[in-house]
Amino acid sequence: MMILVGGEKGGSGKSCLAQNLAVYFAKHKNAIVLMVDCDPQRTTSDWIQARNSDPTLPAINCIQLYGKIRNDLLSLNQHYDYVIVDCGGQDNLALRAAMSVADHVVIPLRPKRRDLKTVPHMEDMLSTCKMVNPKMLASFVVTQCPALPTQANRILEAKEVCSSYGINVLDSVTYSRNVYDDSEESGSSVLENEPDGKAAAEMIAIAEELLAMKPDDSHEFN
Ligand SMILES: Nc1ncnc2c1ncn2[C@@H]1O[C@H](COP(=O)(O)OP(=O)(O)OP(=O)(O)O)[C@@H](O)[C@H]1O
Ligand SMILES: [Mg+2]
Repeated sequence: MMILVGGEKGGSGKSCLAQNLAVYFAKHKNAIVLMVDCDPQRTTSDWIQARNSDPTLPAINCIQLYGKIRNDLLSLNQHYDYVIVDCGGQDNLALRAAMSVADHVVIPLRPKRRDLKTVPHMEDMLSTCKMVNPKMLASFVVTQCPALPTQANRILEAKEVCSSYGINVLDSVTYSRNVYDDSEESGSSVLENEPDGKAAAEMIAIAEELLAMKPDDSHEFN
């Protein structure tokens, strides 16, 4: 199964989500996982390097691919249980190529206006890619939510913006928590740093929701 974590908004939490999903599948599903880093900033490659130099953390494989990566992804997908693709924050060739073959496309967005402004363009890209990849499931996930109860409305409003474009938005969200930042520093994940913590529960909920998705849940492209 190939999961693309993408989107064109910088800093929305794509790499963080991709990394935690990779650990979830390796640790909780005993799966053989490959991460594909399509971002020239190499965030995920650097994280893997830190991880794989720590003997206490189970190693995860990672490769870098750029540009026309469709055929490479298709062939890699045959050799791994899960291929998790981390695409950098812009509309580029690799993002479109990965969208054309991925089983799931997950797009993190913060509940902020600048992130939500990217929704129409993402919907446009998704509906174009859906023509060549009709089985693709796509979801937005709201990340880095404010924990204050007075700001809960912002989360609901963000979900409504996504739904108004006919695209699925996950019920599960991530809240803004330092453990996300702290764990990735050492090549680790929230699932390993605080396995019983709230962030780990958020990641498990997101992963389980993705795995439970069926074609009808995804979106209604025109
Ligand atoms: N739920 C969260 N709570 C707090 N910090 C978070 C959360 N999710 C991600 N972060 C932090 O936000 C920063 C940006 O996240 P990340 O690098 O995953 O974003 P990105 O979308 O991959 O960015 P880019 O577009 O540059 O690739 C990182 O320091 C990460 O640890
Ligand atoms: Mg990134």
